[in-house]
Amino acid sequence: MPASAVSLVAFLGLPARASALASRVDALFITQLVVSGLMVGLLLALNLYFLYRYRRGAKVDRRPLEISEWKIETAWIVATLVTFIAFFFWGARLYVDEEKAPAVAYDIAVTGRQWMWDVRQPNGRREFNTLHVPSGRPVRLSLTSEDVIHSFYVPAFRMKQDVVPGKRVTLWFNATREGTYSLFCAEFCGTKHSAMIGEIVVQSPSDYAQWLASDATPQPDRLRGRELFAKYSCSGCHDQPSAIHAPSLVGVFGSSIPLDNGEFVRADETYLRDSILQPAKQVIAGYQPIMPSFQGVIPESDLLELIAYIETLNESTAPTAADAAHP
Ligand code: CUA
Repeated sequence: MPASAVSLVAFLGLPARASALASRVDALFITQLVVSGLMVGLLLALNLYFLYRYRRGAKVDRRPLEISEWKIETAWIVATLVTFIAFFFWGARLYVDEEKAPAVAYDIAVTGRQWMWDVRQPNGRREFNTLHVPSGRPVRLSLTSEDVIHSFYVPAFRMKQDVVPGKRVTLWFNATREGTYSLFCAEFCGTKHSAMIGEIVVQSPSDYAQWLASDATPQPDRLRGRELFAKYSCSGCHDQPSAIHAPSLVGVFGSSIPLDNGEFVRADETYLRDSILQPAKQVIAGYQPIMPSFQGVIPESDLLELIAYIETLNESTAPTAADAAHP
């Protein structure tokens, strides 16, 4: 980054740039600011100039113009149109890159709750209002809310995402600079909204790996998922054989599911979540919509583990008779 750009960032009071996208966002923002400034400056200068030149009593030529006005009009319209459409494409490109996570991204789950950020690392380690991430690696956050709308906001990454209850959204970034950065909730979410702040800790991959492994009691996710599967009585209907006519969940994740309306849906994380919270929304062909909704019954953290557990179910990991006997 050239020195002039650094001083401009400081002059504008912008926060540190800590992600690959941050300098691109700033480049667009600063260019827009400069171009808009020039435009305003030009119009203002011309205004003042004509005000002065054609003031009352001034000896100037006031006959009608004899130049073709349409040429001036056309030039002005085309020039401004091209400039601002260019900004649109620039911004759209940035937006698409910001939305589309690379396939190799590293997944971390974040749940917003009045009033904290509840983070679950891939090995099950939990942290609150702090998010540790490795640098130089695309990280994808899977965001949900347990109660109201929150907004996950990291100024140093130039990134903000609404977190809506009943919905899972993703957000990705590639942190480029190690350090500690502010995390805010940017949506008014209740009396302690202003206290819903935290930190993003960007570490070198080796420091991060060390930090991740230092948790002495990582939850054995699968076992816990199985416990929850029994606790919320999922096993009563979905374990095979079962007295109740419910679809088996073995191998369901990633498969194509036939619905009773003749359509097909891919069983991804969103589908599994919807099936638990709004079972009547997409009913599998050949089954009755008898499953009750678990909206408000299963806390978000349990839901994440339950979904993670269902994702691991395949022929080789299917619960055995022994599991069923001692859940
Ligand atoms: Cu959460 Cu404001």
